[in-house]
Amino acid sequence: MNRVFSGIQPTGNLHLGNYLGAIRNWVGMQADFECIYCIVDLHAITMPHDPKALAAATRDMAAGILAAGVDPARTILFHQSAVTAHAELAWTLMSVARIGWLDRMIQFKEKRGKDTEGPSVGLYTYPVLQAADILAYRATHVPVGEDQKQHLELARDIAIKFNAMYGDILKPPLPVIGGANNVGAARIMSLRDGTAKMSKSDPSEASRIDLTDTADAIAAKIKRAKSDADVLPATAAGLEGRPEAKNLVAIFAALSGQTVDTVLNDYGGKGFGAFKPALAEITVAALAPINAEYVRLRADPGHIDAVLRDGAGRAGAIAAPLLREVYDAVGFLR
Ligand code: TRP
Repeated sequence: MNRVFSGIQPTGNLHLGNYLGAIRNWVGMQADFECIYCIVDLHAITMPHDPKALAAATRDMAAGILAAGVDPARTILFHQSAVTAHAELAWTLMSVARIGWLDRMIQFKEKRGKDTEGPSVGLYTYPVLQAADILAYRATHVPVGEDQKQHLELARDIAIKFNAMYGDILKPPLPVIGGANNVGAARIMSLRDGTAKMSKSDPSEASRIDLTDTADAIAAKIKRAKSDADVLPATAAGLEGRPEAKNLVAIFAALSGQTVDTVLNDYGGKGFGAFKPALAEITVAALAPINAEYVRLRADPGHIDAVLRDGAGRAGAIAAPLLREVYDAVGFLR
């Protein structure tokens, strides 16, 4: 049986980068897989956070995921802290993962930055919790961006070592990088800097397109987006060394379901004065239905909470027996 598991941090509003990089692919995978999607609030507290904002951010992320097309009738959508097996399995796996393995995690080093003493222990063990997320459901496929590949390899290593220590219980997962069934996942960059990922934490609003943006706001941000003075090239290869141009064409391709080369077939030789209005039009058209549904769902927090509670119940029913098997295998008294 194939089962998909993936997680996303509760950053509140979805932006175009989350949508094209992850959520649209989550929606597409529902056709072919049993899917379990998790808003990872336990992960969110590993960095400084505002306790007063976290619950609302979790709910908003859920609303965005549902608005984008995740269907809670077939797919499980829940928040991580509502299923205790994640924390319990993570604790158990912390005695399986080795310090040397965690010391090699690139994302930890990036997030820690120059401050080697200050970050929380949770930030260090973050990838073990991520492994527990996946292994608690015996997920076979885990759609993630390129930046999560190392964490997926760690989850595999943890599963393999656990099985060697305690018997064949955990299922080493496979990463699905760059999207499944031709839905494709795109790495969308900031509109102000084509070398930085589009991010909620960028102080400049103009750097990202939020799902809550009006049509006018979207058009204005695309008009102001950083580009360059050249015309567009005839083929994808000509975009190398032009990060902003590459990003804008990638967004067009992702939203129109075309390849970059096909887009350039139409726009090669044209400047941004011609390209940007077309990009604005296609972006507004793609996001308008999601935006409308998002606004509707956010006005009904009771419904969102009910969806998440139902999801947590279904997720917990899968994870609890697995956790019991793990507890028995390591020797905990019932
Ligand atoms: N670390 C992932 C990210 O930042 C989020 C995440 C947490 C995740 N648990 C997961 C992704 C399990 C896939 C599977 O994108």
